Amino acid sequence: MRKKLVAGNWKMNTVANEASELAKGIVRSAAEFGATEALLCPPFIWLNLVGEIIKNSGVKLGAQNLFWEDKGAFTGEISAAMLKSAGCEYVIIGHSERRQFFGETDQTVNKKLKKAIELDLTAIVCLGENFQQRESGLTNSIISSQFENAFKGFSRFEKVIIAYEPVWAIGTGKTASPNQAQEVHNLLRGLLKQKTDRFDQILLLYGGSVKSDNAAELISRPDIDGFLVGGASLKVGDFVGIMKATIN
Ligand code: PGA
Repeated sequence: MRKKLVAGNWKMNTVANEASELAKGIVRSAAEFGATEALLCPPFIWLNLVGEIIKNSGVKLGAQNLFWEDKGAFTGEISAAMLKSAGCEYVIIGHSERRQFFGETDQTVNKKLKKAIELDLTAIVCLGENFQQRESGLTNSIISSQFENAFKGFSRFEKVIIAYEPVWAIGTGKTASPNQAQEVHNLLRGLLKQKTDRFDQILLLYGGSVKSDNAAELISRPDIDGFLVGGASLKVGDFVGIMKATIN
């Protein structure tokens, strides 16, 4: 059976004391998380701070991005080795906001994925269609092509997680229905099957306006193994509520 995972993507939110309070609040509830794994992905600058707070709590640490080069003159970028030395076990790759605002493409996702895996990080690869693509019936072909390009020339699926995040549902209050999400997760499971024998062990997360009141129904679908949560990961009560909704 696959484990469940709920990842909080804090995005560009929190100053130091907010990051620390949020992490402390989540740690205080960690005993109630059952078998579901909690993962916090704060801004880079708070990785050490949050890492110290969650140490020994079972809550995991991840980053929101990385750069694929090892080191050098790449002002403002962060390497996989830096993330490892800050205590990260996970890294989010190719979030739609990175694609939309920072020029990331399936090709850069592919390079980042390979570097993350080389350094033994677990990569959470994000993909998802936008509103027009869904309306035009292109969801499956977009997901398939993002998948193929992201995993081109790649076979090391031991530490891969995929997050399906329909762009139209991110931060909009609109959520994919459990059936819509399951349909895409099922498609992803099938695509994975063509690439790896481990296809049924890979976690598939859903992201896009997940809240404590829609989480239980989403997680009840067979191929939804957890969530990548933005807005609702910034309040202790909301995040803890989602964690609890995954326990049955
Ligand atoms: P949201 O963001 O939960 O605020 O919709 C999800 C995400 O971008 O990962």
